[in-house]
Amino acid sequence: MSQKILVQADWLLKWGEGLEIIPRGEVEIAGGIISYSGPARENKERDFTRVIRGKNRLIMPGLINTHTHAAMSLFRGYADDMPLQEWLEKRIWPVEARLKKKDIYWGTLLAICEMIRGGTTCFADMYFYMGEAAKACLESGIRASLSQGLVGLDVIKGLAALKEGKELVRDWHGEGEGRITVMLGPHAPYTCPPGYLRKVAETAELLHVPIHIHLAETKKEIEESLKNEGKRPIELMEQIGLLRQDVLAAHCVHLTPGEIRILAENKTAVAHNPGSNLKLGSGVAPLADLMQNGVLVSLGTDSAASNNNLDMVEEMRLATLLPKGLRGDPTIVPAVEAIRLATVNGAGALFLKEKVGTLGEGSQADLIMINLDQPHLHPLHSLPAQIVYSALSSDVELVMVDGNILMEKGDLKTLDEEKILFETAKISSRLVGQ
Ligand code: NI
Repeated sequence: MSQKILVQADWLLKWGEGLEIIPRGEVEIAGGIISYSGPARENKERDFTRVIRGKNRLIMPGLINTHTHAAMSLFRGYADDMPLQEWLEKRIWPVEARLKKKDIYWGTLLAICEMIRGGTTCFADMYFYMGEAAKACLESGIRASLSQGLVGLDVIKGLAALKEGKELVRDWHGEGEGRITVMLGPHAPYTCPPGYLRKVAETAELLHVPIHIHLAETKKEIEESLKNEGKRPIELMEQIGLLRQDVLAAHCVHLTPGEIRILAENKTAVAHNPGSNLKLGSGVAPLADLMQNGVLVSLGTDSAASNNNLDMVEEMRLATLLPKGLRGDPTIVPAVEAIRLATVNGAGALFLKEKVGTLGEGSQADLIMINLDQPHLHPLHSLPAQIVYSALSSDVELVMVDGNILMEKGDLKTLDEEKILFETAKISSRLVGQ
């Protein structure tokens, strides 16, 4: 018999036509699926396995981080204040070369602990040994869209990576009662030549899986693409035919108006990573222009090696503050739009639109509860403003995925955090040779 759970709170946020703010709201869950969400109803006659009542609390859709490299949490604080290319070539790639399969499992678990605590219920990951990441996701109960990172500079290694990418699809797509989905993950145009990208695009079409790729992240990438291919990266991707697939493009920092139109026309989803782009000095993506042109934009943290956290509340705040400051216009990207990026648009970007992100009836019960009963969240005039401008990710006190409780009042229910911190400290010392 399936579990019936009732979650009530003083406030419920869900997406309908727009963001609906419902006082005294409730979510009814049966077998992991939302059977009702709306104003609280008389419930004398209803019997539930579990009833959670949140006084001075808010229920909202779980946050969706659409771009990260979870296991890189092992390198948090190891290489900072460096340009991207130097950061990659001198610091990150040498330690990545020492990674063992099991390190990915533990590194991913470390990232998942942080993500769950901060209200992230779903994330998109691109890295190596992704079967290990998948095991970590399965054990934790979190939802994830995984892709094996593919680098095609060397023909033999590139084909071997693509084979691993295909195996990940075969072994993990749809696992965990559908919580785990798989994409193909060509790393970037500067690590995957056009011929290789064509092959990846064909394979994705054949397997009916989307593509996750880094695009137009740095000025250097644009310059080299123009020099080597005679085209800017987005134009090149369109020419190759890669954008004809379901594509999630991370970063998209350096874009011309024409490229924004290409992204909109191809319905390419963009993962905006303001924190990582700022820290690596890559620039600021034209979020407002992308949104005004109808591009589906979501939010990502990128890895904890370049961010240096996986905090989606902070990312929402950055996403809205940056365009205001840069354009000198406080009306641009209001708080409610930042929430849209982190929830319903995140679901769209991971091709999970019907499943999560809205708290609509019939969708999977991926939700979080935020404790509003704190000085920095008082008094209450506007919930969206409170969430985006005042809340901290540590204000999240309940996290549910598929109706399963992953965190409640600070307790991680599916993971042994102490052991994970112990193991990952050992591994990261070994990797950086300390
Ligand atoms: Ni990345």
